[in-house]
Amino acid sequence: MRINITTSDKTLSNTLVFPILKDKKLKNTLSKIAATTGVSIDALVHDFEANNKEIHSFYGAKGENIFLLGLGENPDGNKVIQTCRSFIHHRKEKLAANLSLNLTLGKVAVLVENILTGFFLGTYNINLYQTGAKKAVPLDTKKAQLDVCVKKSDLKSVEKSADRAQKTADTLRKVFDLINQPANKKRPQDMAAYAVKAGKESGFSVRVMQKPEIEKEGLHGLLAVNRGSEDPAVFIVMEYKPKTKKNVKKIALVGKGVTFDTGGLSIKGSTNMHLMKSDMGGSGAVFGAIEMTAKLELPVHLIAVVGATDNSVDALSYKPSDVISSYAGKTIEVIDTDAEGRLTLADGLAYVNKNYKPDVMIDIATLTGSVIRALGYAAGGLFTKNDNLAKSLIDAGTQTGEKLWQLPMWDEYKPMIKSDVADVRNYSGKPIAGSITASKFLEHFVNEHPNWAHVDIAGTSVTANEFGSDRNATGFGVRLLLQFIENYVSK
Ligand code: BES
Ligand code: ZN
Ligand code: ZN
Repeated sequence: MRINITTSDKTLSNTLVFPILKDKKLKNTLSKIAATTGVSIDALVHDFEANNKEIHSFYGAKGENIFLLGLGENPDGNKVIQTCRSFIHHRKEKLAANLSLNLTLGKVAVLVENILTGFFLGTYNINLYQTGAKKAVPLDTKKAQLDVCVKKSDLKSVEKSADRAQKTADTLRKVFDLINQPANKKRPQDMAAYAVKAGKESGFSVRVMQKPEIEKEGLHGLLAVNRGSEDPAVFIVMEYKPKTKKNVKKIALVGKGVTFDTGGLSIKGSTNMHLMKSDMGGSGAVFGAIEMTAKLELPVHLIAVVGATDNSVDALSYKPSDVISSYAGKTIEVIDTDAEGRLTLADGLAYVNKNYKPDVMIDIATLTGSVIRALGYAAGGLFTKNDNLAKSLIDAGTQTGEKLWQLPMWDEYKPMIKSDVADVRNYSGKPIAGSITASKFLEHFVNEHPNWAHVDIAGTSVTANEFGSDRNATGFGVRLLLQFIENYVSK
């Protein structure tokens, strides 16, 4: 959809959308709308309170099709995106190809980046494999145009925000597609191809290690999980450096890239197993974050790694009781083959730490059911011993609306994963504090890096929403990590 930013409210469009905050100026805002559209202010005040996701539509005196879109009180970034994308999504077949978005009233102009991100995401379609004729979506056609009406004083900042929104939405739509892709269409090689393509298009380098090289490097955690699979694992190393600026900070990201998690021999129940096609949500976040960093040409040296494999059942599968090695050289007793993500992450973390010596290291993963029991679907779990890093990540979460909540990493939890026969075991054997012991496990592999954090997004990576009744990709982590990176390098 083309976008045309204008300071005139005389647009070609006959469909006008007013996003409206619920604030002290609401009545003022509504009276301006009443005056320009020729409807009665009393009727508007009666019919519309600007609650989040509230929509009031009516025809103006000249026959314009008018939508008031409630944003609620002090909505966070995620809420604004959600509201706007659901508005578009529910009407995408009916809305005209030319819309006019009015941002001249009240304080909505500061929300423009998220409003537009929501608009651009609204036409996303999850029905990739439905064969019937698709209904036409005027907003997805070549002639589609969004006129964004702004005050003169907002013009410059809105232009910049619109560009960012376009980049964010393009990136997120691809990440959605990847996370929503079924397991038979998302093999480790497909993950590698995704990274290579994104790197070419957006300007970051991608090195894909195939199995022989993974063996040579000694990524034994990834190899153990991959043993029961038909498809060889890949280890993807992505790197972005600014073209001219030297002496920039070095940030490393590690994403869990389990393309399907059956649980392995410690097999999962069948009820929700199909959702385990999205057990690579962490790598989706990491792919999106490096793509955005490259597109925005941020002054940072960013390294992102993903070990991709499925976790399947086979005669060759790794077994509970197996003792395996790891990239860091530590031995691991496998108690439960369903605690596979931490084995792949342990190698990813040890690999970036040793080979890149980053200033800060963050891993992100759909790691535990336990974090869902603790926090539900409202926030990701944050684990770090570094209070400054915790604050930076929590702040980035507040700014973007991709919220994080910190859980403890105290050493009281350490004995729970002590092994009799190896350096550490991958599961405590008890159904308590599971997300904490998972992070205590990872801690063994970061070589006491002072600036490391682990983010568990098992509860936030997929959710039921307007795109589908079954849980599907949120892209959680892309905007969060990007915000963190931008804050970190501007300090
Ligand atoms: N991929 C799962 C975690 C998960 C659960 C993600 C639900 C999204 C939704 C992970 O590999 C897993 O199976 N974790 C187990 C670990 C346990 C066996 C130690 C869990 O949390 O139950
Ligand atoms: Zn698992
Ligand atoms: Zn898993």
